[in-house]
Amino acid sequence: MRIEGKEYRTIWFKNNVVKIIDQTKLPHQFAIKELKTVNDAINAIKVMEVRGAPLIGATAAYGLALAVQENNDKEFIKKSANQLIQSRPTAINLKWAVDRMIKKLAGINSDQILSIALNEAKEICDEDEKFCENIGINGLKIIEEIYNKKKDTVNILTHCNAGWLATINWGTATSPIYHAHKKGIPVHVWVDETRPRNQGANLTSYELNEEEIPNTIIADNTGGILMQRGEVDMCIVGTDRTLSNGDVCNKIGTYLKALAAHDNNVPFYVALPSSTIDWDIKDAKDIPIEERNSDELSHVEGIDDNNEIKKVLIYPSKSKAMNLAFDVTPAKYVTGLITEKGISDASSEGLKKLFK
Ligand code: MRU
Repeated sequence: MRIEGKEYRTIWFKNNVVKIIDQTKLPHQFAIKELKTVNDAINAIKVMEVRGAPLIGATAAYGLALAVQENNDKEFIKKSANQLIQSRPTAINLKWAVDRMIKKLAGINSDQILSIALNEAKEICDEDEKFCENIGINGLKIIEEIYNKKKDTVNILTHCNAGWLATINWGTATSPIYHAHKKGIPVHVWVDETRPRNQGANLTSYELNEEEIPNTIIADNTGGILMQRGEVDMCIVGTDRTLSNGDVCNKIGTYLKALAAHDNNVPFYVALPSSTIDWDIKDAKDIPIEERNSDELSHVEGIDDNNEIKKVLIYPSKSKAMNLAFDVTPAKYVTGLITEKGISDASSEGLKKLFK
C-alpha cells in the first residue's frame, strides 16, 4: 500500500539485513529500521516496532533466517526459535511461522541453508499478501451488498490496526475496505482509537489517510452510541488467534464492540488468514493473554510544538494500572469469518468446510 504515494510492504530483506517500518514512530515519523540479528527481531516484536499477528509471524520467520545467518549451530537455532515464539504470547502466527521454518530447515546442513531459510521467509510474506488480497475480494461482497441496499456511504467500524501495517500488505480487516474503495463504493471508517497504544488512531487512520479513504477517529467507548444511532453498517476487526470453534481473540475491547453490535443488530465480521487459526486449543480460557507493562497506560506519547516525540505521565504517580492486551469474543457474537478461502460461520462446521 502507499505512503506518500510510494508503494511499500511492511518487511523485506536486502543486503543481508531485514528492513521494517518502525511502527513505534508512526504517524509522526516514517522511519525504516534494519534488523541484523535474531535478537533485533525478537526485540522489534517485543517493543512493537512490528506488530499485528501476520506481521509478527513474518518477522519471526525472517528472525530465524537471521539466526541461521549469524550462527548455523543447531542449539542456537533451537534456542532462537523458542525465544521468537515466546516474544509475544497471544498471536498464534509466531508459532505457526517458526514451526514452518523449522520444518523446512530440518535435515539441511548444506551451504544452502541460509538461502532456503530466506526463501521460506519470503514465501510466508508472499503468501500472506495473497491471502490478505483474497480476504479483501471475499469481504468486498459484504460491503457491496450493504451498499446496494443502502445506496449511500457504507459506515464501517474497526478496532485496533488490522490494516496493511499489521500484515505484509492489504491488511485483514482493511482489505475489504480497500477493495471497496478501489471499486468506487463510498466507504467511511469509524476508527477506534484503541487505548492504550492507540494503534487505531496512530496506524489505521494514518494508513487510510494515505489511501485517501474517509475516516474518523473515535474514543473507544463511542462505538455503542453510534450503533444505537444507526451510524454503523458493519464492524470488521482482525484477530490474533481464532479457535476452531470460532471464538476470536483480538485486541482488548473487541469483545465490548461485539456485544454492542449484537445488541444493535449490526453485523460483526472478523477477517483472518488461515495462519491465525489455532486448531489445537479447544477452550478460550487456555489462550495465553498477554499482559504488557502498565507504563503503556499511565504514559502517552505525541509530538510537541517543536515536532519532537515526547512521552508524558497522565496518571497519579502512585496509581496502579493493569494492561491486558487482548480479550476473547465468543463465536456467538461473530456474524462471520472472512478468510482467504471464503466467508464462513464462526463455528467448527463453518471452518471445517473451508479448511478441510
Ligand atoms: O497489539 P497489536 O497491535 O499487535 O494487536 C494487533 C491486533 O489486535 C490485530 O487486530 C490483530 O493482530 C490482527 S492484525 C491483521
